[in-house]
Amino acid sequence: MKFAFSEISLPKRGSLAVPVYAGNSFSPMAEEVNTLTGGVLARALETSRFKGNKGDILEILAPNGLDVSRVILFGMGENTEITQTDLEDLGGTLVSRLNKSGARNVTVILDGLGECEIKDSDAAARVAFGAKLASYQFTKYKSEEESASEPSLVRMTVACKTSSGARKIFQDLEAIAEGVFMTRDLVSEPANTLYPESFADRCKELTSLGVEVEILDEDKMRRLGMGALLGVGQGSIRESQMVVMRWNGASGKKSTRKPIAFVGKGVCFDTGGISLKPGPGMEEMKWDMGGAGTVTGLMKALAGRKAKVNVVGVIGLVENMPDGNAQRPGDIVTAMNGKTIEILNTDAEGRLVLADALWYTQDRFEPEIMIDLATLTGAIIISLGHENAGLFSNNDELAGQIFEAGEIVGEGVWRLPMSKAYAKQVKSPIADLQNIGTGGRGAGSIVAAEFLKEFVGETPWAHIDIAGMAWSKKDTPTVPKGGTGYGVRLLDRFVRDNYEGK
Ligand code: BES
Ligand code: ZN
Ligand code: ZN
Repeated sequence: MKFAFSEISLPKRGSLAVPVYAGNSFSPMAEEVNTLTGGVLARALETSRFKGNKGDILEILAPNGLDVSRVILFGMGENTEITQTDLEDLGGTLVSRLNKSGARNVTVILDGLGECEIKDSDAAARVAFGAKLASYQFTKYKSEEESASEPSLVRMTVACKTSSGARKIFQDLEAIAEGVFMTRDLVSEPANTLYPESFADRCKELTSLGVEVEILDEDKMRRLGMGALLGVGQGSIRESQMVVMRWNGASGKKSTRKPIAFVGKGVCFDTGGISLKPGPGMEEMKWDMGGAGTVTGLMKALAGRKAKVNVVGVIGLVENMPDGNAQRPGDIVTAMNGKTIEILNTDAEGRLVLADALWYTQDRFEPEIMIDLATLTGAIIISLGHENAGLFSNNDELAGQIFEAGEIVGEGVWRLPMSKAYAKQVKSPIADLQNIGTGGRGAGSIVAAEFLKEFVGETPWAHIDIAGMAWSKKDTPTVPKGGTGYGVRLLDRFVRDNYEGK
């Protein structure tokens, strides 16, 4: 789908979308269209439930007195209360609606924003961004005969007072959307085609954007002492990999500053290993590489918009399989930091992968802060459902910054506590640590976070458990069902607000 921006004027063809504010008050352009059509818009509103509230939408076909083939009225609510996510949702809602109607071109007029705090060029770019996010489809495995429901909409033009400004803002947003799409692509890909080495190949594609990509194979990891990660992968015929991606976008004095680091769990398939998972639903474990997918998409977004910051992204890629060579419950492995770990459940593998990835990252790069993302625990879905990711941190300021970014972009996080009492639960009687807690079934996500904390040293660190967020079974305005790309927008915003321009 293509996007364009223009000054405000009546289009000669295609579909036209115009705003209506709370209490059915027309925008200037909606008013003009109403007059040109002899009051059709007003009559249509009277005979419907449309109130001009956010999310309200009404379609009028082949109106007399206009060149366009349909007019869509969309509700904006009070113009003092419009947020960035409202505008993105509007763009997304228009895309799904118009694809159902069979429209090919649409011009969205954004006028009457008046007292809205968001500048109109910003608002226009956000509508296009939301539309772009909603236009994503994962169709590579559909043969042509099967894909009869091709989206009809090919072009959206957003009209506002200063279209040149909107065009400029949209450039960065489009780069972010490309990052989100990369994450969605990776998360949707099945495990017979996406395994550690092929995932690493996808990362290499980022070199064309200026990202430095380095791949550590099993030999290298063995020499580094990464026994925790390697133990998880040892039951798979696929070789484990660690990928290090670096974007050095800071200029001047900042360029010598320590990088900020993102670390991702990349379990390309999680059968549970010898502690095998139940069969029903196991196919979902193809997206157990969601953390690594988000880190990779984030690197693409940051490089794509040439973010002025030094970032390192590290992902641990493995496949957790049961096999004659697989790790057993009761095995003891040694992680890169020298700590020994008793494996009590081979299905608690993500924390083992992250243990070595986190230690390696802080040891080699001494980052200013380190944030990991992982589809780590089923327990986080019990706690927070699919509305917020779980946030854990050893640093209040960092946790606050991530929370703020989430509020702005509409990708929520909710912080859970950590303390010594939970940390005690991962102490093993015969090794330094054990990979599941002793406290029965309670607080599984917190106990997992305490395990990770053993591998972060003194670095300000946050862990985001995205098990409930990486995949969605229902559509929302800007996120079609499937791989969501959750976390790319969140962390892009976090980077922009806290590490650029300082
Ligand atoms: N990948 C799973 C967590 C998960 C579950 C992600 C459901 C997405 C949806 C993880 O490796 C796992 O199996 N965790 C276990 C931990 C337990 C053995 C302590 C879990 O959550 O049951
Ligand atoms: Zn598991
Ligand atoms: Zn897992």
